[in-house]
Amino acid sequence: MDRLNEIRRKKGKKKIIMLTAYDYQMAKILDEVGIDLILVGDSLGMVVLGYPDTRSVTIQEMLHHTRIVAKGSENTPIIGDMPINSYNTVEEALTNAKQFLEVGAHGVKIEGNKTEVIKALVDNGIPVMGHIGLLPQTAQSYRLRGRDADEAQRIFDDATKIDKLNVFSIVLECIPELLSKRITDAVKAPTIGIGAGRYCDGQVLVINDMLGLDKNAGPKYVKRYANLNETITKAITKFKEEVLNGDYPDREHTYHG
Ligand code: KIV
Repeated sequence: MDRLNEIRRKKGKKKIIMLTAYDYQMAKILDEVGIDLILVGDSLGMVVLGYPDTRSVTIQEMLHHTRIVAKGSENTPIIGDMPINSYNTVEEALTNAKQFLEVGAHGVKIEGNKTEVIKALVDNGIPVMGHIGLLPQTAQSYRLRGRDADEAQRIFDDATKIDKLNVFSIVLECIPELLSKRITDAVKAPTIGIGAGRYCDGQVLVINDMLGLDKNAGPKYVKRYANLNETITKAITKFKEEVLNGDYPDREHTYHG
């Protein structure tokens, strides 16, 4: 909780860095580098479980991955992404959010303007990260949101509504940067952008995207800081060749009795 209050205090002072993780080793690396937040996102569905979108992800899958991420992180607060159909009612939301905390999360993320649910969670001492703009759990298409004035106003209103409920931060996904500036200036919670431009209080990317694990470059906002797809492909191809031609295992990698 204290660590999430630190996130609030960073607003307007220091940029907030969040990345997703889905397993122990990646959580350990992120924790060692030192970032502000680890999100166990329901992007898990696409980048780890091979689903077409986030809509097939279950609460059990999210809890399993949150538990193993928590094992890898000593210092970095972990946010569990509440999957679709895990917060249809206040009762369901409370039960499931508590399970996230039990497996090691420090807070949960809720997509959209679910004011009743968010209020109940916050009133029960569960830190909530909001999520506004493109909402993958319900979106019919993955396109920029808030381009026209009406949609931009709806997104702005949603952000200010959930801000009043004391969410500790708000993810802004795929909206024009002038809209995210307007929201960032208007809300007291720090905003964390993904495809939302330069003016947010922090930035988040899906770790697999920024490490270039997929062959496809992904959406415009994704910057690939590595090309792990190429690195891994080369390493596996070399291993295959060396085993086939007898170069591996060599003397150095063999026990001698
Ligand atoms: O599931 C996820 O990874 C997310 C991020 C895109 C913010 O919600």
